Amino acid sequence: MQDLFELAISTAEVASVMLVDKRPADLGVAYTKTSSTDVVTEMDKASERLIVDRIRAARPGDAFLGEEGGESGGSSGVRWIVDPIDGTVNYLYGLPDWAVSIAGEVDGEVVVGVVSVPMRGELYTAARGQGAHLIREDGSTERLRCNTGVSLDKALVATGFGYSAERRTHQAEALLGLLPHVRDIRRGGSAAVDLCSVAAGRVDAYYERGPQEWDFAAGALILQEAGGTVGGLHGAPPSAELTIGAGPDLFGPLHDLLDEVGAARG
Ligand code: IPD
Repeated sequence: MQDLFELAISTAEVASVMLVDKRPADLGVAYTKTSSTDVVTEMDKASERLIVDRIRAARPGDAFLGEEGGESGGSSGVRWIVDPIDGTVNYLYGLPDWAVSIAGEVDGEVVVGVVSVPMRGELYTAARGQGAHLIREDGSTERLRCNTGVSLDKALVATGFGYSAERRTHQAEALLGLLPHVRDIRRGGSAAVDLCSVAAGRVDAYYERGPQEWDFAAGALILQEAGGTVGGLHGAPPSAELTIGAGPDLFGPLHDLLDEVGAARG
């Protein structure tokens, strides 16, 4: 596991440097996937190419699931789940909360997760069973622990919206049901950063309808290793249906409220 962990960290760092150094002042929108807000830039594709090529050079038998390249097979039992830029719209606008997210899975279980947030000089890491850490630019390292003992009415909850207009209408309805019962809502623009923010205790919880595996795989392990609970509805694993992450005592009440307000509808 140590070699996977080190490879994930060094690769996320190399991709982050490329994305910062080569970000054009005037970013061209390469094409749109599902709507005009789902902006996929050339940088997104360049980052995934760099990540896959670098990992493949070190480990030719591994499989990949990438936001841009989809699934590609391998025979080693290791699969990498890659979001080359999570928070593409933030990247496009020059906002700091975008990340390179790399998770390494062995025989179907995520064992390492790395989320690099270069504009904040922060690298979030986790190896299964070994805790989650925040490594800052100056090399200082902090063990992450999510907030505990937070009641629903005192919870600051991060969320995200997908790109489809129809889904957003349902999400807005669910949000209206949720808002009176929590401290407040934040929409940061990167699911990976949101999960790391819960791990670091900067927000109390995160939920979203629609995130894909590459959005949450690394961040979910980081939050779990920081003491948090990550899951979907009624004991299901996190998925596009609904992904919830919170301290273990907040998870249940938030889950029930999200179920009640129909957060997984649409
Ligand atoms: C998106 C971000 C956003 C979330 C969307 C994701 P992308 O990822 O994580 O916060 O709300 O669901 O698709 O497209 O920037 O990689």
